[in-house]
Amino acid sequence: MKYKIAMLPGDGIGKDVMDAAQIVLNALDLDAEYVYGDIGWEFWKKEGNPLPERTIEMLKETDCALFGAITSKPKDEAQKELPEHLKGRVEYFSPIVKLRQLFDLYANVRPCKAYEGNPLNYRDDIDLVIFRENTQGLYSGVEFHPVPDEVRKVLEEHHTNMARFEGVSNEDMAISLRIFTRQGCRRIIKKAFEYAKEYGRKKVTVVEKPNVIRETSGLMIREARKIAEEYGEIEYSEANIDAMAMWLIKNPQNYDILVTSNMFGDIISDLAAQLVGGLGFACSGNIGDNYAIFEPTHGSAPKYAGKYVVNPTAMLLSVKMMLEWLGEKKLAKKLENGIARTIEEGRVRTYDMGGTATTLEMAEEVVRNME
Ligand code: NAI
Ligand code: MG
Repeated sequence: MKYKIAMLPGDGIGKDVMDAAQIVLNALDLDAEYVYGDIGWEFWKKEGNPLPERTIEMLKETDCALFGAITSKPKDEAQKELPEHLKGRVEYFSPIVKLRQLFDLYANVRPCKAYEGNPLNYRDDIDLVIFRENTQGLYSGVEFHPVPDEVRKVLEEHHTNMARFEGVSNEDMAISLRIFTRQGCRRIIKKAFEYAKEYGRKKVTVVEKPNVIRETSGLMIREARKIAEEYGEIEYSEANIDAMAMWLIKNPQNYDILVTSNMFGDIISDLAAQLVGGLGFACSGNIGDNYAIFEPTHGSAPKYAGKYVVNPTAMLLSVKMMLEWLGEKKLAKKLENGIARTIEEGRVRTYDMGGTATTLEMAEEVVRNME
């Protein structure tokens, strides 16, 4: 076998859409072995660990992974659902966040393409890809509340703007750090340009806010300008995040590749996904230098779990991304054609598009349309 692919269905509709993925992968006859792994709420409840060690070991033996979705709940509820002998002894964590860290999957790639005939499209000519930095920025997890005296002292010594907060107690102050590194900025920007080059894309836009968040966004923009020079054939532009939110509504068809930091990317990628049909269509890849995990961006939608009624398109487009990443571009194109034709013909549609077809019927229609 050429590839070994990890299949991580997870909870709820993660399982439903994973079955759809397996149907198209089988039909594509990819030369691969599929190994299924344990992940999610079910394993938290049974073992007190939503990402068992055996799953991590298994992933290390594979080329990449396909992930469905997982259920997660607030701290207190998480503890309540544990068996007695585990209560208070283990803490819940997000398995997908952990996997991104473990495999250093620094690029969160979110294509948002409008397939013709999708009744949920905002307009039919949108085709953009968002590159979101996935490991640092405001989601670095370095936060304080209350703010320790030592931290406060250091900040006051180094920054005159801290004088503004004189008289505010440590208890009344919370700090979340937005940490950027030059290396972190460079590798996400490079990834975006390399993708643009590989797929014949015309333009890369860096989305930040350097006029206000001078040091972090500034670092990102300065590195982007340097890297842009290495790709003379690709147009380079810059935009502020707030303006981008407006422009994505006003003229989303004008954008091609967008690259941005963690939180900004989190927000605009959800915005952009809604322009092309929302959760049923939003695919993604968590990509590093040596490993990648592909997943629809929706959650486990408990009310639809096991009913096989949700739209498999987000998952099938994630499979398409996986095939591209593996270098199987012909198969990726074949799958995409099948998806595009299924949407355009509109004979087999799940409820979100106004139809009554099941998840698996739609996957089977995609298979028919690939041939
Ligand atoms: P959700 O994405 O699971 O579902 C919200 C609603 O969106 C659904 O009720 C349904 O109406 C619609 N929807 C989602 N996927 C769809 C599809 N493929 N086709 C058609 N309609 C679709 O988000 P929610 O309800 O906020 O979260 C449910 C659980 O999922 C929570 O436990 C949450 O923590 C988790 N979650 C997990 C994610 C992941 O695994 N990456 C991401 C987001 C939420
Ligand atoms: Mg999000």
